[in-house]
Amino acid sequence: MNSLANPTAQAVDNVLIYIFGVSLLLLLGITVATIYLVVKYRRSKYPEPTSDCHGNMWLEAIWTILPTLIVLTMFWYGWTNYTGLREVPDDALEITATARMWSWQFEYPDGRRANKLYVPVNKPIKVHLKSTDVLHSFFAPAFRVKRDAVPGIDTYVWFEATQPGSYDIFCAEYCGVGHADMTTSIEALAEAEYATWSQPQQPSTEPRGLTVLNELGCTGCHSLDGSEGIAPSLFELSGQQRKISVDGKLSEVTIDVEYLRRAIREPNAELVEGYDPMMPSYDDATLSDEDLQAVIDYLLGKVAEAESVQINANELLENNGCIGCHSTDGSESIAPTFKGIAEREVTIIRDGQEMTLKVDVDYLRRALLKPNEELVKGFPGIMPAADYLSDDEIEAIIQHLLKQ
Ligand code: CUA
Repeated sequence: MNSLANPTAQAVDNVLIYIFGVSLLLLLGITVATIYLVVKYRRSKYPEPTSDCHGNMWLEAIWTILPTLIVLTMFWYGWTNYTGLREVPDDALEITATARMWSWQFEYPDGRRANKLYVPVNKPIKVHLKSTDVLHSFFAPAFRVKRDAVPGIDTYVWFEATQPGSYDIFCAEYCGVGHADMTTSIEALAEAEYATWSQPQQPSTEPRGLTVLNELGCTGCHSLDGSEGIAPSLFELSGQQRKISVDGKLSEVTIDVEYLRRAIREPNAELVEGYDPMMPSYDDATLSDEDLQAVIDYLLGKVAEAESVQINANELLENNGCIGCHSTDGSESIAPTFKGIAEREVTIIRDGQEMTLKVDVDYLRRALLKPNEELVKGFPGIMPAADYLSDDEIEAIIQHLLKQ
C-alpha cells in the first residue's frame, strides 16, 4: 500500500481527525449526560420539578462561549490547512494536465507529453488543470487533492510524493459515457529514475560502431577521413590491402571481418607496416563482442546510413488519449475499435447522407483531422481533431492503424 505520509494528505487527515474527534467527544458527552439525567430525574422518583432556574448569566455565558470557541478552533484549523492546499511551494515543478473526454494528458515544461503523471519524489508538483470540452475533476485520493477542470478557467492542485509508487488519478465529475474509464496514475519516481525519464528523448542517429569508436578513444589516433596520423586511418577500409609484419616477416592482407577482429583484440600481433606497436589491445572486458561487431560493421561500411528515427505510433495513440475511447481488442464502447480497422468497411454520415466506404489512408487521415465531418454511424460526434500532431506523426499513426 502507498504511504500517505505526504504533506497534503497529512494536512487534510489531521483536520478530518480533529473535527471528527471533537464531534465524537461532544456526541458522547451529550448522550451520556442526557441518559444520566433522564434516568436520575425520572417521573416515578421526582414527580415534581426539583428546581426552577431562569436567567443564570454565568451558565448562559459558558454554554454560548465554549461551543463558539470549539467551533472556531475547527474553523481555524480547517482554514490554515486549506490555505496550505492552495499555497504552492515556490520550488514546485509545474505540469499542465489537460482533461478531455475521456482521458488525461500531462504536459511538461519541456513540451514532453505523457498519459501518466510522472513526477520525482520529494518535489512539490503544481498541476495546472485545463479542460478542452466539459467539466472534469482531477482527483488523487492518496494526496487528498481534488479540483475541477473547467473549460476557460485555470485551476490547479499541488501535491508532493514522499515515496516512490503508483497512485490513482480519477475523474471526479460526471462527464459522459466514458467518465468511469477516465483514470490514470501518478507515477512517483526516485530522483535518479525521474532524471532518466525526463531526459530529452534524443533518438541517437549515430551508428553504434561510431559511438564505440569515440567512447573508447580510437579516433584520437585513427582518423575517420583518410588522413594518416600516428595510426592508420579507418576511412573506407573494406577490401583494402595492408602490408603487415608478423614476427618481423612482411605479408599482405585484405581487410575483412577476421582481420579487423584480430587487429582490435590483438593489435600488436600483426603490425601495419610503418607504424609502432603502441595500440592497446581490447579484450572482451573492455569491448564486448556485440560492440566489436558494431565497430567492424561500421568500419566496413555496412551501416553507413544512420538508422532513421522511428516515430512510435503506439505511444502517440496512448499519450494522446486515443486508447481511452478506441479499444485495441475489438470491444466497441464509446468509439469504434482499432482492431481490424484496415479490413473494415464503415458506414458514415456525411452532410446528413449515409454512405459506406472502405477504410484506407485517405479515410483515416480525414477521420483524424476532421473527425466529425464523417461520423461513423452509431457513434456520437465527440472526437477532438488531432490537428495538433505533425504530418509525420499523423502518417505514422495511419500506417500503424492499417496494420491493426
Ligand atoms: Cu472526465 Cu468524468
